[in-house]
Amino acid sequence: MVQLKTTEEIEAMRPACQVAANTLVMIEEYIKPGITTEKINEIVHEYTLEHGGIPAPLNYRGFPKSVCTSVNHVVCHGIPDKKKLKDGDIINVDVTTIIDGWHGDTSKTFYVGKPKVRAQKLTEVAREALQIGIDVVKPGATLGDIGYAIQSFVEKNRFSVVREYCGHGIGRVFHEEPQVVHFGKQGEGMEIKEGMVFTIEPMVNAGKHAVKVLNDGWTVVTRDRGLSAQFEHTIAVRKDGAEILTLPTIKG
Ligand code: MF3
Ligand code: CO
Ligand code: CO
Repeated sequence: MVQLKTTEEIEAMRPACQVAANTLVMIEEYIKPGITTEKINEIVHEYTLEHGGIPAPLNYRGFPKSVCTSVNHVVCHGIPDKKKLKDGDIINVDVTTIIDGWHGDTSKTFYVGKPKVRAQKLTEVAREALQIGIDVVKPGATLGDIGYAIQSFVEKNRFSVVREYCGHGIGRVFHEEPQVVHFGKQGEGMEIKEGMVFTIEPMVNAGKHAVKVLNDGWTVVTRDRGLSAQFEHTIAVRKDGAEILTLPTIKG
């Protein structure tokens, strides 16, 4: 069952969505060669509390940290640790904030120092894939239309779309229905309705789409060890299209 949100409920989600988005703006200046992902975790954790939020990942189904940090061939759910970032790495920082019981979920891939040509191309395709997916959203379109738009754009660029992880409904619950897959066929899947609130978060791989989970039970990596990039927004379906709830309200 997909639960549609009233205008008031969507308004109530704004603070969580804005703090999550602002966290990504705030963190950018720290993403430099030499910083550890544990330090990024600490800064995100503190910032979230200072802004009246709770970091949703912490203890979510046993996740041990407050943010996901996914470096290079890590697709998603990377666990912050003592390893230092190096020049030329790419890192996805995935922030989910809870305020007044509502969740806001957004992520972005950053360059560490100067990106390599292929990493930059991959990252820019992932960024555009999210926007292309968002542009499809309107009442009457289907979830398959979103997946089709994203998959055809990514594959036209000779990259691949991860199948095992998807966008999701979000509200008082972190992950709720519907599942928003990033591949598919036009006209298939659930009809999009005004009042739906969900994430779109395509994971784009430089090589093949296959992934595996490491022994820590969380870290998802590409099977071929190729690079992976991802961007995510939380969106609300309005009468005339998607409204992105996770737009930042601060400048970097
Ligand atoms: N933020 C991720 C998403 O986009 C989920 C992370 S779950 C966690 O859905 F436990 F790893 F934090
Ligand atoms: Co999400
Ligand atoms: Co997320």
